[in-house]
Amino acid sequence: MESKLFTSGRIGPLTLRNRTIRSAAFEGMCEGNAPTKQLLDYHESVARGGIGMTTLAYASVTRSGLSFPRQLWLRREILPALRQVTDAIHRQGAAASIQIGHCGNMSHRRICGQTPISASGGFNLYSPTFVRGMRRSEIVEMAKAYGNAVRLAREGGLDAVEVHAGHGYLISQFLSPYTNHRHDEFGGSLQNRMRFMEMVMDEVRRAAGNDMAVIVKTNMYDGFKGGIERPEAIEIAQRLEACGADALVLSAGFVSRAPMVVMRGAMPIRTLTHYMDCWWLKWGVRMFGRLMIPTVPYHEGYFLEDAKLFRKALKGTLIYVGGLTTRAKIDEVLNSGFEFVQMARALIRQPDFVNRMAAGEERCGCGHGNYCIGRMYTLDMSCYSHRDDVPPCLLREIAKLEKQQQG
Ligand SMILES: Cc1cc2nc3c(=O)[nH]c(=O)nc-3n(C[C@H](O)[C@H](O)[C@H](O)COP(=O)(O)O)c2cc1C
Repeated sequence: MESKLFTSGRIGPLTLRNRTIRSAAFEGMCEGNAPTKQLLDYHESVARGGIGMTTLAYASVTRSGLSFPRQLWLRREILPALRQVTDAIHRQGAAASIQIGHCGNMSHRRICGQTPISASGGFNLYSPTFVRGMRRSEIVEMAKAYGNAVRLAREGGLDAVEVHAGHGYLISQFLSPYTNHRHDEFGGSLQNRMRFMEMVMDEVRRAAGNDMAVIVKTNMYDGFKGGIERPEAIEIAQRLEACGADALVLSAGFVSRAPMVVMRGAMPIRTLTHYMDCWWLKWGVRMFGRLMIPTVPYHEGYFLEDAKLFRKALKGTLIYVGGLTTRAKIDEVLNSGFEFVQMARALIRQPDFVNRMAAGEERCGCGHGNYCIGRMYTLDMSCYSHRDDVPPCLLREIAKLEKQQQG
């Protein structure tokens, strides 16, 4: 079959120059929760590297949804800086998307300025923090905040928004029976647990109008007992299509409970703790990290078999994400009913991977030692291969994990 990788493709009203999208991968480059020159330079380099569309990651729709100090918060005062980023992306011929969401029970009190909120109250070990269940009036306001974020994104020059409905963030916390214990019309049956998502989609769809693409990243399963399983996830994806999503990104995992289900492989505990500044957390994670964050085996295209099941049950445009680092696998995915592919780690390693493939290169050098993931919790996004300040002990850890991947 002929490769469609370098043919143009449509997502709603948007046409991309090829079938590649830089998936949302938290950059940690937004000092003061605003776009910076560093963020611009990174996305410009991915755009120059041939990508069809690049995605600014993890933008919170309200201050209450922030979990990192250098996380983007979509608000009016950042629009001039945001416009500079999208202009730079457009100058390189790529489209620009932004992932919008709210961290819910994973927000950090110190950064979000209040007790973190979620579908239900309780204690979240991830932050770690006490959490307050949202009042009905807050749920209505929150849905509106998603719509407002889309309007701001348009003013900032974005061509698409990606609503984050997976990975255990706020929408996912409403969907999942693990985090939603409500007894009102937002809890209990799947119908009720989907209500907040539907309200968000209603606001987002209206704000996006007919000139912005609406993408939704959704879970095929949460990845642990008591979370969403495949049959419910299919119903959720079908509902998202009915709510007017122009395309769905199929992922899985729950950051506060099953983080490596999302990205696979091992969490490099030594790297993770090396960069932490809180001594007791550093010590605790060093001692118990392997138990708290179990390894989930990685293999190339690890979500493909599940995604094919979803392909059968869905009608609209689907975007594949998960473990793509070779031309052959990308072509296989594009020939299996998926219109686009998203990549994170391949483009962290090689921002110009798309142009390299156009020139005949078969694979990217990412070895999935996951240094970028261990580092992300404290510092800006980076691959160890681009740095000369990574201590030998961490290089040894990454080499060992990469070797395990190959074996
Ligand atoms: C450093 C890093 C940061 C990430 N941050 C996000 C994020 O902010 N939002 C999100 O939906 N996924 C995030 N992800 C997950 C990726 O978008 C993607 O779903 C996952 O890494 C699988 O794709 P890959 O195998 O091409 O890396 C992140 C992944 C990495 C490696």
